Amino acid sequence: MAALNRIQKIASHLDPPKPHKFKVAVLGAAGGIGQPLSMLLKMSPYISELSLYDVMNTPGVAADVSHMSTAARVKGYLGADQLPAALAGANLVIIPAGVPRKPGMTRDDLFNINAGIVRTLAEGVAAHCPTAWVAIISNPVNSTVPIFAEVLQRAGVLDPKRLFGVTTLDVVRAEAFISEIVGADPRDVSVPVVGGHAGVTILPLLSQARPSLPASMTAEQRKALMTRIQDAGTEVVQAKAGAGSATLSMAYAAARFADSCLRAMGGEGAVAEYAYVRSSAVEGLPYFSSPLRLGRAGVEDILPLGPMDAMESENFEAMKAELLGSIRKGEEFVAKGP
Ligand code: NAD
Ligand code: LMR
Repeated sequence: MAALNRIQKIASHLDPPKPHKFKVAVLGAAGGIGQPLSMLLKMSPYISELSLYDVMNTPGVAADVSHMSTAARVKGYLGADQLPAALAGANLVIIPAGVPRKPGMTRDDLFNINAGIVRTLAEGVAAHCPTAWVAIISNPVNSTVPIFAEVLQRAGVLDPKRLFGVTTLDVVRAEAFISEIVGADPRDVSVPVVGGHAGVTILPLLSQARPSLPASMTAEQRKALMTRIQDAGTEVVQAKAGAGSATLSMAYAAARFADSCLRAMGGEGAVAEYAYVRSSAVEGLPYFSSPLRLGRAGVEDILPLGPMDAMESENFEAMKAELLGSIRKGEEFVAKGP
């Protein structure tokens, strides 16, 4: 996986991207993530149509983004009445809709508001673009992905190969922090981050990082690095002091994940990624973020997690109860009904 990652990174510098013609919809496009993400997607050579949906402010965002001199055609859609048109024909739907954390909150504290938003959007996808790939950013990801899956399942259109919880920001952060420590270009750093997307469920496998962490790092320093990656979202929430959570780094991460999806969809061969998907990788946990190989139809392979050192194994065991609780909470929310 690390080798495939490195080869892809090198290849992406050498090979100009081949254009494809996909429609991508962003749901929550006028928000803190949605706006910079829409801007980055407008620069993608893989997108022919960019559909920007929100319950507020999309006419302004769409007008603004549409003036960029890049090929994708941009259309704004405002309010629930326009959701069907926003989704019709979409190949990839990216969802940053929902409220963000304030200092002192956990991601799970967002459940009460965001679960309903995600359920409504899942019903829209089931009705209007049931074969689209879906990338969910809205927190708590550990629960919103199971919610989405349950809605699609009840509508008879679930294909778990095409449903992803976006955990790319955890990988991006791990790459950034490790690159500072080892003094490498972040593009040359690869490190698996597996599990889920909240606190202890975020498991960076530092022992598999390439380049390796310096042998001089003590166990305490490695533990501190792991904790920093796990708490990086909180670091941003605290720094923003009530003005929301990560938006710009998240937009970068989501654009990178979208790029991987569209390259795989376009048949560019096996594309390596990490995402939170329905999985049997870990016994007893029906969803887990693992190294993946993406192909034309979505997830082609869920790859092994690889060896863990003692600190990682301990964290792996410690996350299981919390992750399973979040998964069940999402599933039960849909089972209970509106
Ligand atoms: P934000 O409040 O700035 O933007 C959210 C947008 O969603 C707003 O424009 C709002 O109008 C819109 N929205 C609300 N209800 C909607 C609905 N029913 N349909 C369509 N749009 C709707 O928040 P943000 O900072 O952009 O964060 C969005 C979400 O992403 C939060 O839940 C946050 O916790 C999460 N997030 C996840 C990650 C991750 O790594 N997965 C990283 C950062 C943030
Ligand atoms: C993040 O990791 O930055 C996001 O999940 C937002 C948050 O609430 O931390």
